[in-house]
Amino acid sequence: MMRFKDKIIVLTGAASGIGRATAKMFAEEGAFQVISDIDEQNLEETYNLLGEAKNKTITMKVDVRDPLQIKEMINITFEHYERIDVLVANAGVVRVGPVDEFPDEDYELLIDVNLKGTYYTCKYAIPYFKKQNFGTIITLASVAAHIGQINHANYCSTKAGILGFTKALALDLAPFNVRVNSVSPGATDTPMLQSDVTKQAKDRSVDYELVKKEFEEEGVLGRWATPEEIAAGILFLASEDASYMTGADLRLDGGWTAR
Ligand SMILES: NC(=O)c1ccc[n+]([C@@H]2O[C@H](COP(=O)([O-])OP(=O)(O)OC[C@H]3O[C@@H](n4cnc5c(N)ncnc54)[C@H](O)[C@@H]3O)[C@@H](O)[C@H]2O)c1
Repeated sequence: MMRFKDKIIVLTGAASGIGRATAKMFAEEGAFQVISDIDEQNLEETYNLLGEAKNKTITMKVDVRDPLQIKEMINITFEHYERIDVLVANAGVVRVGPVDEFPDEDYELLIDVNLKGTYYTCKYAIPYFKKQNFGTIITLASVAAHIGQINHANYCSTKAGILGFTKALALDLAPFNVRVNSVSPGATDTPMLQSDVTKQAKDRSVDYELVKKEFEEEGVLGRWATPEEIAAGILFLASEDASYMTGADLRLDGGWTAR
């Protein structure tokens, strides 16, 4: 499929996991991309995985906690390509622990990256979207936006916030022909989930494999998603196949929330 031939994509958090898989899939479908991450080294690794699409790709070191860096990423995209077809606000972090023992720095990090990072990523692109009168935005929520998870209260609150933000923004941008949707992955095999499982195993003094199995059994499919399975959902929302979808959330959770 070449659904994104010569489309212009802006993607944050592209150095790892779901972001990396998304960059690879957009590249395979013919897109031009501006891919960014705070982690320059792993972003370079993503870039090197893009094969021939490397010459259609710009990499930028962007910390989504810094509005100025985001603004620059969006402005450079416009100067270069004169439009944005798809914006994917994917950068995110997880921190887990009981609320009463949660380090305040970790709480601030969750808010700054997951919520404010998504807000600023959209904020600076919206004037361009309004002007061009087309485009689509995809945000990253989570299964944790729909259900509670033990020791995840603060992470859950950021992801539930993304759901509300996405629905409301869809209303604001509908008159400008811009669709806004979120994806809610379940347990997805990325460095984020692996670090979450490692921490839980350590805190509970149990084996990594035991915690992994618990996560696998949350979804009725009994396994973790691959990053590519989530990226496929992101590309679907970004494509014309989803032309009647806005303000929606695509749950890719292996049946976790169906129980
Ligand atoms: N893995 C899962 O099970 C899962 C489940 C639900 C939702 N999600 C969401 O999917 C998204 C991608 O997660 P992933 O699993 O691929 O995680 P990951 O840790 O593999 O990748 C996240 C990327 O975001 C980048 N990032 C972190 N802080 C940043 C910052 N301040 N500025 C710019 N980039 C920054 C990281 O460097 C990393 O490359 C996140 O929003 C996450 O919350 C993941």
